[in-house]
Amino acid sequence: MGITKAEFVISNTDVKKCPGGNLPEYAFIGRSNVGKSSLINMLTDRKQLAKTSQKPGKTQLINHFMINDAWYLVDLPGYGYAQRGKEGRETIRRIIEDYVLDRHELTNLFVLIDCRHEPQKIDLEFMEWLGENAVPFAIVFTKTDKIGKGRLQANLQAYSDKMLEVWEELPPIFTTSSEKREGRDEIIHFIEDINRRLMS
Ligand code: GTP
Ligand code: MG
Repeated sequence: MGITKAEFVISNTDVKKCPGGNLPEYAFIGRSNVGKSSLINMLTDRKQLAKTSQKPGKTQLINHFMINDAWYLVDLPGYGYAQRGKEGRETIRRIIEDYVLDRHELTNLFVLIDCRHEPQKIDLEFMEWLGENAVPFAIVFTKTDKIGKGRLQANLQAYSDKMLEVWEELPPIFTTSSEKREGRDEIIHFIEDINRRLMS
């Protein structure tokens, strides 16, 4: 069916104030500036639904977007932005941790990773923490328009090799370019598949 309707519902820092109604939700996490908000705009086909910025640290709240009156996409603040200072980083860490651990509606977390970079400790540790807490997640390699196909394949292979040192199997993996609108159908189908299973 695809995404036919998308609307902003609420922003907050407190997981207890997130919307009721028990609808499934899909959230986006990753380092600041990796492209979480841009991906939500690309998926919903709405240029400015989620606020984006060239500067890291733009999204500071938990943002709920209602899709097709039936489920939510959730934009989260990024982790690992050094310039926020220790206290700021701690606040964001707490928002993310509370949301991920306490939000029962969270159905799948998409962990975004910039496809240009080598595996980074902060992302690998975050995913290990998700594993320890049995949080279902998929990886999205973002900004694929910024490198050539050959390098992308090499980077993906290197990432898989690195993860298989710790994990027995790999999570679902997607590649996207919000700039070129690539990877959209794959992610929407993945979500719709899960929604169908939840309803049957
Ligand atoms: P925070 O909210 O600060 O955590 O960042 P974010 O992860 O939400 O990143 P955001 O979507 O704001 O994008 C950061 C920058 O990357 C912006 O300048 C975007 O235009 C750019 N960007 C995001 N996705 C892509 C992409 O697929 N390709 C290219 N070329 N640029 C992208
Ligand atoms: Mg953002």
